[in-house]
Amino acid sequence: MAADTPDGGPDFGDMIAGRRTVRRFLSKPVPDAAILRIVDAATRAPSAHNRQPWRFRIVREAAEKAGLAEAMGARLRADRTRDGDDPDAIAEDVARSSARINGAPVLIAVCLTLDDMDAYPDDRRGRAEHLMAAQSTAMAAQNLLLAAHGEGLGACWMCAPLFCFETVSTALSLPSSWQPQGLILLGWPAEPGRLRERKPLSEIMLGIETR
Ligand SMILES: Cc1cc2nc3c(=O)[nH]c(=O)nc-3n(C[C@H](O)[C@H](O)[C@H](O)COP(=O)(O)O)c2cc1C
Repeated sequence: MAADTPDGGPDFGDMIAGRRTVRRFLSKPVPDAAILRIVDAATRAPSAHNRQPWRFRIVREAAEKAGLAEAMGARLRADRTRDGDDPDAIAEDVARSSARINGAPVLIAVCLTLDDMDAYPDDRRGRAEHLMAAQSTAMAAQNLLLAAHGEGLGACWMCAPLFCFETVSTALSLPSSWQPQGLILLGWPAEPGRLRERKPLSEIMLGIETR
């Protein structure tokens, strides 16, 4: 990677390559100002028609986290029980999810809304518009993860809300048009994230010689 920038800040490539998913956090509080900077960075993402369909719900109260973890856990247990999974494995899964949600100093529910997106009479274009809103929101989330890393904070995107968005919506009293897409755990890292290998460019690109 390139050397640090002249002002002493981290090089952009280092920032990108240095981000890791972090799943365990110190109990040290995260300042409001850092959360605001991170969400502001999220909103700098590009979005379809510049409609900015992303929405963010910040959760810091222990009771609210516990309520969310409980509701999501119940839903996970019901789904996996219906699948016929081993009860011990289900209990372990629910406990892990709950520990993660309760153990993060800050949760950010990343949502999308179709309120300002175009509406179409047919499903085909409606689905494409919805996908564009999801793509835009995911880009905002990536900005958010990078901005958190830039603050020295750790973060983990949890996909579970996609599988139980009504549960999350109710537990967090979200506005009815907000569709939860993911839950970001945020806090000061208790451990460095593990390096996860990436597939070589030669495996994921076509149309250019990679070596
Ligand atoms: C859409 C999405 C969903 C994810 N869901 C989860 C999740 O539910 N639980 C989890 O621990 N990590 C989750 N992750 C984090 C990935 O496991 C992680 O990004 C991946 O292993 C690569 O590691 P890295 O982020 O440290 O580079 C998710 C990431 C994305 C982008």
